[in-house]
Amino acid sequence: MENKLNAKLSPSQIATQNKKLDKKIILITGANSGIGKETAISLAKIGHKVIIHGRDVEKTKQAREEIISKSGNKDVEYLCADLSLKAEIPPFVDKVKQKCDYLDVLINNAGGQFGNKREESIEGHEKTFAINTLAPFLLTHLLLPLLQKSKNARVVTVSSESYKMGGKPPLEDIELKHNYSLFKSYGLSKLYVWWIMREFVEYLKAQNITNITINTVEPGSVESGLQRESGKGILMKIITILWKPMMWSMEKAAATSIYMATSSEVEGVTGKFYGDCKEKIIKDKYISPKAQKALWDYCQKVCEGYL
Ligand SMILES: NC(=O)c1ccc[n+]([C@@H]2O[C@H](COP(=O)([O-])OP(=O)(O)OC[C@H]3O[C@@H](n4cnc5c(N)ncnc54)[C@H](OP(=O)(O)O)[C@@H]3O)[C@@H](O)[C@H]2O)c1
Repeated sequence: MENKLNAKLSPSQIATQNKKLDKKIILITGANSGIGKETAISLAKIGHKVIIHGRDVEKTKQAREEIISKSGNKDVEYLCADLSLKAEIPPFVDKVKQKCDYLDVLINNAGGQFGNKREESIEGHEKTFAINTLAPFLLTHLLLPLLQKSKNARVVTVSSESYKMGGKPPLEDIELKHNYSLFKSYGLSKLYVWWIMREFVEYLKAQNITNITINTVEPGSVESGLQRESGKGILMKIITILWKPMMWSMEKAAATSIYMATSSEVEGVTGKFYGDCKEKIIKDKYISPKAQKALWDYCQKVCEGYL
């Protein structure tokens, strides 16, 4: 009932249902545009300290100014890194540590979608996997010490309903050297990041870390910069036109991240998948603890030397 009511509230109203503001330090990746920027504006408006991340310095600086002007909150900082490169993540984490002694919320929002031709980063990882799955894995790992210093920390990771579109996960070919396609790589990367976050819950339990919750969200469908690369083909252009009437507003797309990052209603909730500010039940066919562990082990192996 409460959640049904929430669907009618704006993100700021949802978050400020906490009677007295418990000011949080919140890091949002990919917050210089789209859903991440909207999330940052709302969280800053509520009064939280927000650290936005972007890849391009000028674009991220401009986003910071826009967030300050729209929220009226000057406590907004920015940091830059290409998160699809493992080598850029540890220095990025060092810069976060210079900005704050603890972190209350990490929103793994940055994500990408590429074309129908498989491309690799200069580190040799398939690009969609690198930004959508590997980056949240490594970044969350490296930020754990800072999150542990918070009284109650939350990790919120942005996945997508497209997790259903990747087909059967080929665990012997996680980075799709064979059989790559745009839909397969994007869908699987968003299923994999959900598995990684589920496995993080087990990891925290094993480490006896009790102050951090880990949840995954899907933001619905919204017009953003996501299809810069993937939207060039005629098929994607047609899909986008047909899909337009079903698209959500940016405010609605950001609402679930904001809800999971701040609402007292979900305090202590961990290992769940949320959409439209409600828990979403994932069908058993998309969950395999064995495959999940194999993916985790793969990420750990390729991140050796960075963890
Ligand atoms: N739009 C939708 O309908 C939809 C639906 C489901 C899920 N999502 C997910 O929502 C999240 C936000 O996407 P969006 O729709 O808001 O798209 P967007 O406007 O393109 O925002 C994506 C953000 O991620 C950043 N990013 C991409 N690649 C990066 C990299 N290698 N290193 C650092 N930052 C990088 C982008 O920075 P640059 O500007 O520098 O590229 C940008 O700030 C993504 O995880 C996406 O998969 C979106």
